[in-house]
Amino acid sequence: MAPRPACFAHRGASGHAPENTLAAFKKAIDLGADWIELDVYAVEDRLVVMHDDTLDRTTNGRGAVMRQSINNIRSLDAGNGEKVPFLDEVLDLTCGRIKINIELKGPDTAIPVIRVIEARIAEPVCDYKDFLISSFDRKQLDTARKQCPALPLAPNIKRRPVHWKYITTAIRPAAIHIDMNLATRKLIRQIHSRGWPVHVFTANSLAEIERLVGMGVDGIFTNYPELIPGTKQHQ
Ligand code: G3P
Ligand code: CA
Repeated sequence: MAPRPACFAHRGASGHAPENTLAAFKKAIDLGADWIELDVYAVEDRLVVMHDDTLDRTTNGRGAVMRQSINNIRSLDAGNGEKVPFLDEVLDLTCGRIKINIELKGPDTAIPVIRVIEARIAEPVCDYKDFLISSFDRKQLDTARKQCPALPLAPNIKRRPVHWKYITTAIRPAAIHIDMNLATRKLIRQIHSRGWPVHVFTANSLAEIERLVGMGVDGIFTNYPELIPGTKQHQ
């Protein structure tokens, strides 16, 4: 039997708790996900965990994330009374309990994220293999690779053509993350033949997940970790 795909709790178990909050990450651990996935922006001297570049959809605030003060961001409600967390707070909760996929969403996030990870792996509970840094932004991935040769990286890909030569030589990835709409047996075979695991985002129905499992993908991003075969609450 093929091994089950790894479960990436997308923005935490965001089908059950407000996305990218400590409650969503705790729920992902409780549901037995293998990974949490989260998005970061650098604001002032902090790494803020949030998906959109504005506050409007996920908080009771308004306006561009990058134009806020940290004090303002921390005063907001990110849903059910949850605060917008800092990356360090998420790692305090999760390091040693679940693996962590950090998506570099905002500009100038690669270097501060690497600093945070290096501080964590100086502790015995964490290692580079517990982290995976992904991004749609080539510049952030380039910087991350130059700054830290040991760091596992994954380009996020949502459209063709895919620049394999660039990915192979400049990024030297640990895995490839592709949009579900690109997932075909042929593409997954091609990626596997280059020696990389394939993680697919984002599948939230059983039918989508079964299709991806049938194709032999190595990981699936979902808001509902219990839908992935092999997780604790899977039925
Ligand atoms: O990293 C996979 C996935 O999270 C990328 O899309 O828009 O949910 O950040 P998005
Ligand atoms: Ca993301």
